[in-house]
Amino acid sequence: MTGRALRVVAVNAGLGQPSSTRMLVDRTVDAVVAELGRRRVDVELSVVDLREHAVDIARSMNAGFATGSAAPAVADVEAADMLIVATPVFNGSYSGLFKSFVDLLDRAAMDGTPVIIAATGGSPRHSMVLDHALRPLFAFLRAVVVPTGVYAAQEDWAQGDGAHGDGARAVEGGLLDRIDRAAAELVALVPMTSPAGPVAATSPNVRAVPDDQRTASESAGIATFARLLSRQSAEVGAPH
Ligand SMILES: Cc1cc2nc3c(=O)[nH]c(=O)nc-3n(C[C@H](O)[C@H](O)[C@H](O)COP(=O)(O)O)c2cc1C
Repeated sequence: MTGRALRVVAVNAGLGQPSSTRMLVDRTVDAVVAELGRRRVDVELSVVDLREHAVDIARSMNAGFATGSAAPAVADVEAADMLIVATPVFNGSYSGLFKSFVDLLDRAAMDGTPVIIAATGGSPRHSMVLDHALRPLFAFLRAVVVPTGVYAAQEDWAQGDGAHGDGARAVEGGLLDRIDRAAAELVALVPMTSPAGPVAATSPNVRAVPDDQRTASESAGIATFARLLSRQSAEVGAPH
């Protein structure tokens, strides 16, 4: 089947070098690409490191539109079929750089885009930043945020980053499990994606959608999402 690849874009607002937020982005991207690979969906992947565009993001805020290197970064995100967004926690919320970048995005372009929200922090006590800051922000943009948010505190990495024996998997509901769950939820929304054109797929599970069937397909996607949401409410209290 012909069609274009699914555009997966990740936004990393981490500032550290190395950056634990970038590490979380890489893990999450790997999980999403693996999940899409199982469905034999072609992927076009890009990672936007906001650190590299910090000055131009500030200039863009002054100009009132995306300029300099911020312009292609914004265009990349606006063209995404699915997004992974990750910020470090700064003073109990997303970082200022992250918010400034999001403020440059066209709200219409975000409408219906499936998103995984992710954050890193020094303290495990600040995982609620996912639900009190990131989730409402992307709900405002009318993006479709998957039920499972991914938060990594310092101690999650100490449990093992997965590269050396998957230590994080030893903990029920550990970081890598949460990443896998979020990735599965994101990929379950594939039929809702790609309003601009068919998605390349060789699996019978994921097919390009003709225009006249799109409404039915979107309804099916929404039903899938509703199922995911109800499953999540049954798991209230489960740690992020
Ligand atoms: C200005 C500043 C404020 C921070 N505030 C918090 C905070 O409120 N809660 C928290 O858990 N960690 C906080 N941190 C720690 C960072 O969130 C944490 O180190 C993060 O993982 C860094 O990500 P990076 O390595 O990708 O830059 C703060 C760090 C800085 C520099």
